[in-house]
Amino acid sequence: MRLSLRFIVPLALALTIIAYAVVPLVDRLTLQWFARDMDMRSTLIANAIHDSIQESLASGSKARTLNVFNNIMRDERLFALGFCSAKGGAPIATRTFPPEIGCADLARFEDPSNRLLSSGKGTLNVTVVGVDAEGSRIGSLVLVHDMSFVQRRSEETKRYVLYLFIGLGAVISLITVIIAELSWRGWMKGVRALLRGEWLLRPSTADNPLPMPELRPIAGDLRTLIRDMEAEYRARDDSQVTWSPEALRAILRNDLRGDDILVVSNREPYMHVRRDGRVEVSRPASGLVTALEPVMRACSGTWIAHGSGSADRETVDANDRVAVPPGKPAYNIRRVWLTPEEEAGYYFGFANEGLWPLCHIAHVRPTFRSDDRKQYIEANRKFADAVFQEAKTPDPIVLVQDYHFALLPRMIRDRLPEATIITFWHIPWPNPEAFGICPWREELLDGLLGSSILGFHTRFHCNNFLDTVDRILEARVDRETFEVTYGGKATAVKRYPISIEWPPADELIRKPVAECRADVRGRNDLPPDQFVGIGVDRLDYTKGIVERFLAVERLLEMEPGWVGKFSFIQIAAPSRSAIGEYRDFEVRVRELAGRINDRFAKGGVPPILLKVEHHEPPDVYEHFRAADVCCVSSLHDGMNLVAKEFAASRDDDRGVLILSQFTGASRELPEALIVNPYDIDQCAAALHMALTMPVTEQRDRMRIMRGLISEFNVYRWAGRMLLDAAGMRRRGKLQDDRRAG
Ligand code: F6P
Repeated sequence: MRLSLRFIVPLALALTIIAYAVVPLVDRLTLQWFARDMDMRSTLIANAIHDSIQESLASGSKARTLNVFNNIMRDERLFALGFCSAKGGAPIATRTFPPEIGCADLARFEDPSNRLLSSGKGTLNVTVVGVDAEGSRIGSLVLVHDMSFVQRRSEETKRYVLYLFIGLGAVISLITVIIAELSWRGWMKGVRALLRGEWLLRPSTADNPLPMPELRPIAGDLRTLIRDMEAEYRARDDSQVTWSPEALRAILRNDLRGDDILVVSNREPYMHVRRDGRVEVSRPASGLVTALEPVMRACSGTWIAHGSGSADRETVDANDRVAVPPGKPAYNIRRVWLTPEEEAGYYFGFANEGLWPLCHIAHVRPTFRSDDRKQYIEANRKFADAVFQEAKTPDPIVLVQDYHFALLPRMIRDRLPEATIITFWHIPWPNPEAFGICPWREELLDGLLGSSILGFHTRFHCNNFLDTVDRILEARVDRETFEVTYGGKATAVKRYPISIEWPPADELIRKPVAECRADVRGRNDLPPDQFVGIGVDRLDYTKGIVERFLAVERLLEMEPGWVGKFSFIQIAAPSRSAIGEYRDFEVRVRELAGRINDRFAKGGVPPILLKVEHHEPPDVYEHFRAADVCCVSSLHDGMNLVAKEFAASRDDDRGVLILSQFTGASRELPEALIVNPYDIDQCAAALHMALTMPVTEQRDRMRIMRGLISEFNVYRWAGRMLLDAAGMRRRGKLQDDRRAG
């Protein structure tokens, strides 16, 4: 209503001013028109009675003249009539003849603009018409008209004009208010849709482009995701309504007929470590492990991984195998042992100083050493040996994980040509220019194209890979079917957005949110009503931890009301600390946290609580459930499962997720507050918005995110890959049968 008044008040004022200017003008004009009419009328009457008057005057009878006058006076508008003789003297006139008109000064009424006379009887119009007899002027006929009707009409006109303006004002105001309200609502709807990210779903056209063109790839992936989901709904039968461990087992039973499943990754899902003389089990901080572990629990099979725990060798059997999860065995880990030199060259060197910065655009220079490459080849060969040893059939399904094993698919293919090899690249794939700086680019691509299926999180990364192959290798790239044919063999390049277990394990969400809030605040000496933000990452330069802290600092500068009221807890799992870049990064992060705390700590409450230590999943979930906002500000990330875990932890539908636009997750979770982590002001504003977001909006956003994750869970990720593998195997068998027949 206040908005409408802003339109109506100036409009009403303007119309009133116009009305005040117009009314006297209209008044004057109408008076002039009527006066002119009166003149014409008078002339007409004078002409009509000229002869009778002449006769009566000639008769010399004043009474007869008056009689003629009285007959004419029946005309209601005629007020008085008189005759002034040329000889002078008093006029022969009707009784109503105004005394102000003297026969001696009739000349003053000759001027047409001067015929109005204000008398005691009101405004009168005086017209003087000459009367001639036998060619000479004998006197003048004076016709006096009552102009009061003009005044009456003028009043009426003024009233109508005023009504007209009031009516006009009302109509214009109404139309203005309706249009303003509609546009306001449209605008509000637009803004809400923007914040909710709905606009991402609308295809961009030349006339209707997306508001932020750099987010076009996100929009594209999101639309594809929804199309996939709709297609899946249409195709599903009743027995497979949701993606679950049972659904996976059904695929293994029905589509793969119990085929052999092997997973290969560098990181193992359970590490045995010796602490204080005792062997403990630890779960590493790894998105890959988070995703694959529940899948393996459902599928059984064997997981081949580097045995990196200090007590790993003590806990395996003679074949280097150990059954996990501890106490509830569902599958086997087959551990591969690497020498310290191999680990240094393959894992720290080639994989994490070369390929990691090559594929993540975080402005850290990749380092390629030929010695590291040798170790990388050796390590890949060791894992290929393990696959060969663990394969129970000549055609197992092998799920190769990540950038540690770019050469492994080709090595497996050479030794097990019938195997179905699905390689999943968990990190981004850069554009051909960026990838092209790797001295061994052809070798890596050749290795990967040993896969039957090569998977990425997003369509964008698939396209980058096809562009890279097109640029670097002599291969046929089919962009319609997303297939590369190289050396006579085809590799399907597919998008499988990774996810997490759904519903989350009971042990992770058992503790009520209120208790989590109280305990986390209590343990950190924070006031019970303290607003808390949470970040959970490996201590890695790609995660945008520095940018996140700078955003907290900016928030406190811009909105000092949060000083002492808001604290950000950063859980940073130590990672790859044998690499100089990571050690330097830790120093920078610690220094920055210290500087911000020096500036803004209030009453002993620091704005940043940095915890550089490993946290087991239940601890992490407790923090998620205790937080008001979770910040994922990666500078570049294949998917980022922390974003999904935060939403999964919030069965109370509360909390706000701030999510970098450079994560794969942003393509699926537009209900998060999507930010550019390099834009510190924007991130600070997002923090403020998150901390002040109404509960209903938090709930709406959280419900949509949770709905999507429940649907697009990790069982779907694995299930889709396995179904594609099954389809491929069926087609292969058919071709073999045809050849044999
Ligand atoms: O992002 C790639 C990835 O393999 C993740 O899946 C995982 O979180 C991370 O790297 C683990 O790194 P690392 O095994 O070196 O600790």
